[in-house]
Amino acid sequence: MAKLNHVFVCQDCGTSHSKWSGRCDECGSWNRLVEETVRAKSVGKKLQADTFFSQLSTIDETLSRQQTRLVSGIDEFDRVCGGGLVPGSVILVGGDPGIGKSTLLLQLVAALSATANCAYVSGEEALSQLRLRADRLQVNKAAVHMAASTHVGEIINALEQLPNLALIIVDSIQTMAVESLESAAGTVSQVRASAQEFITSAKKRGHVVILVGHVTKEGVLAGPRVLEHMVDTVLYFEGERNYDYRILRSIKNRFGATDEIGVFSMENQGLTEVKNPSALFLANHHQDVSGTAIFAGVEGTRPLLLEIQALVAPSYLASPRRTAVGWDNNRLAMILAVLESRCGISSANRDIYLNVAGGLKINEPAADLAVAAALISALKNRPVPTGSVYFGEIGLAGEVRSVNHTEIRLKEAAKLGFSNAYFAVPRTSKKTNQTFMEDSAIQVNPLRYILEMV
Ligand code: TYD
Ligand code: MG
Repeated sequence: MAKLNHVFVCQDCGTSHSKWSGRCDECGSWNRLVEETVRAKSVGKKLQADTFFSQLSTIDETLSRQQTRLVSGIDEFDRVCGGGLVPGSVILVGGDPGIGKSTLLLQLVAALSATANCAYVSGEEALSQLRLRADRLQVNKAAVHMAASTHVGEIINALEQLPNLALIIVDSIQTMAVESLESAAGTVSQVRASAQEFITSAKKRGHVVILVGHVTKEGVLAGPRVLEHMVDTVLYFEGERNYDYRILRSIKNRFGATDEIGVFSMENQGLTEVKNPSALFLANHHQDVSGTAIFAGVEGTRPLLLEIQALVAPSYLASPRRTAVGWDNNRLAMILAVLESRCGISSANRDIYLNVAGGLKINEPAADLAVAAALISALKNRPVPTGSVYFGEIGLAGEVRSVNHTEIRLKEAAKLGFSNAYFAVPRTSKKTNQTFMEDSAIQVNPLRYILEMV
């Protein structure tokens, strides 16, 4: 019989320690060590090489044998997954409690159940509660196998008896427990062991597994940072409580592009897709006010226009305030420094506030130019030219650098009725300024230095 060992496992990073201590040596977090029992590993059985290594087949043979992706018809979800769910893959969907993970996934199984055999196992809600939710979402007619359970062994046994299972949702991985471990559900060892069981069954039987994971208030998937390495795809479902829209973002994807986003809106009867998010985020935009500029951004492969707002006020503080919401504070400081030393626009003795309207966060350096435009407009108290969009990275020499996806950005801006675009033409592009102008339905203003815009 395997020996039982007692170890202390950090619930944040998953490191095991032989002794308890107040602080984890690995990640430095306090009070996160929990005693867990693990079974000493038994030595692997000796296998014949022939049984261990299966015969290698050529790659295109393997590809053709693989079934096609499961497409749900919920475009915003399919695109984030790289064009549908790959059979045998394991997806982790993380997000704050109450953000709508269960709602999204119930709608997903309902949509897929028309063509595939799907199951939904909840460790958080009773069957009657699941039914209520299905009623509310008007998917109670869908043929989905529903269960409420937290025993991994029991669930996997039951799944093996379902023929042609295509998809199982496990809501949530923190409530699941394997019987062979003594630690409580939700501890790192339980989360890791339960996930491993589901992953093994997915790889063996070729169905898709979607694991739901809750995020702690620090913004990491509770405990299971370890899970991110084990699964094929990590999606985050995020949004602001005060807004209706929700964003599904791919953080890691073995079968598609990362940084891809899907936009949904939370309504009374569940989530609906937002096909044109730029229009949603620009709904309250006023053109003739100073201090606002439109950024033509790209998230993954999809263009997204956002409004950047800047406000300048006299400062009564020794070191004036610089506050950015939805944008990096250091980058704001850098752009102010470039404006001051390269363009002679001083922001001394002024408080500066920068905001990305709609509560979104921008990580793209391409937003530099739009931020600069908003700041210049606010500092000079003059609105930017009507119908303009901006994109480009700003260098310390005051130069505007080109960014990728220029054409996608121009097309989206033209589609939404903008008439002017300020950006840097890519050096490597075969297109000249002239062809950019002829190709797009928008007035093109190529820039090389930020000073040209001023
Ligand atoms: P839920 O999917 O339970 O969140 P999670 O699984 O991520 O914890 O979503 C719960 C929230 O969504 C709750 O605040 C109510 C809201 N909601 C709606 O607005 N409309 C709906 O149709 C449903 C089902 C939920
Ligand atoms: Mg839930």
